[in-house]
Amino acid sequence: MAEVVTRLRAAGCVFAEDEARLLLEAAGTETELDTMVGRREQGLPLEQILGWARFCGLRIAVEPGVFVPRGRTELLVRQAAALAPKVVVDMCCGTGAVGAALAALRPGIELYAVDIDPVEVACARRNLPNARVFAGDLYEPLPAALRGRVDVVVANAPYVPTDAVAMMPPEARDHEPMVALDGGKDGLDIARRVIQEAPEWLAPGGHVLIETSERQAPELVAASPLPARVTHDEELWATVIVAGPLQG
Ligand SMILES: C[S@@+](CC[C@H](N)C(=O)[O-])C[C@H]1O[C@@H](n2cnc3c(N)ncnc32)[C@H](O)[C@@H]1O
Repeated sequence: MAEVVTRLRAAGCVFAEDEARLLLEAAGTETELDTMVGRREQGLPLEQILGWARFCGLRIAVEPGVFVPRGRTELLVRQAAALAPKVVVDMCCGTGAVGAALAALRPGIELYAVDIDPVEVACARRNLPNARVFAGDLYEPLPAALRGRVDVVVANAPYVPTDAVAMMPPEARDHEPMVALDGGKDGLDIARRVIQEAPEWLAPGGHVLIETSERQAPELVAASPLPARVTHDEELWATVIVAGPLQG
């Protein structure tokens, strides 16, 4: 254990003890442990090495080269679950973490998920055995019969402005796909399309919820064809736009 901690600390891992414990649990042999620690030293995200991430109390399968679900996205899940949806689209689903967490909180939901990256789609299919997972560009692959039936569209779409990607930690920019990070010039290229195209798919009274940053939120609210409000959680350092019919 001590040797692994020393190696991880030297590689700059802030939570070296916790990581060492997880790697020791996961490795079957000394050689395997050495390989795993070596990959961490090279900067791979811990979750891609372990093959899973903890998200909203669930263990989500994480394959090499996919976006690692972030803790802050729990706010998106909580806000969506509070709307008690029956039909949900997890747009830009990545591993499917958001959909999986929603299905755990709201058992029996009819769940659809979409991602443009085939590697993410394959991973989401593992995490969402009871959902229909589609590969393609936003709403394009969804079945036409779903138009007007969706209670909630949730999206954690890429929202890092192109110029800011270079400032992200190497763990993200070198080991997560660019299509998962780069949201275009102001970071809102994909999110804007998600919110603007949502009304065609929403059931009466339906909502679209999008994770964004506090700085970007006013821009996204302005782009929304539906009345939108901003929710923020200081502890999670998370911001979510909730767009739909005005409450009360
Ligand atoms: C920030 S990651 C979030 C993944 C997942 N929702 C989560 O929270 O862990 C953004 C995801 O959007 C996907 N994506 C990017 N552009 C897309 C598009 N035009 N249509 C569908 N998915 C897209 C990426 O492949 C990536 O998986």
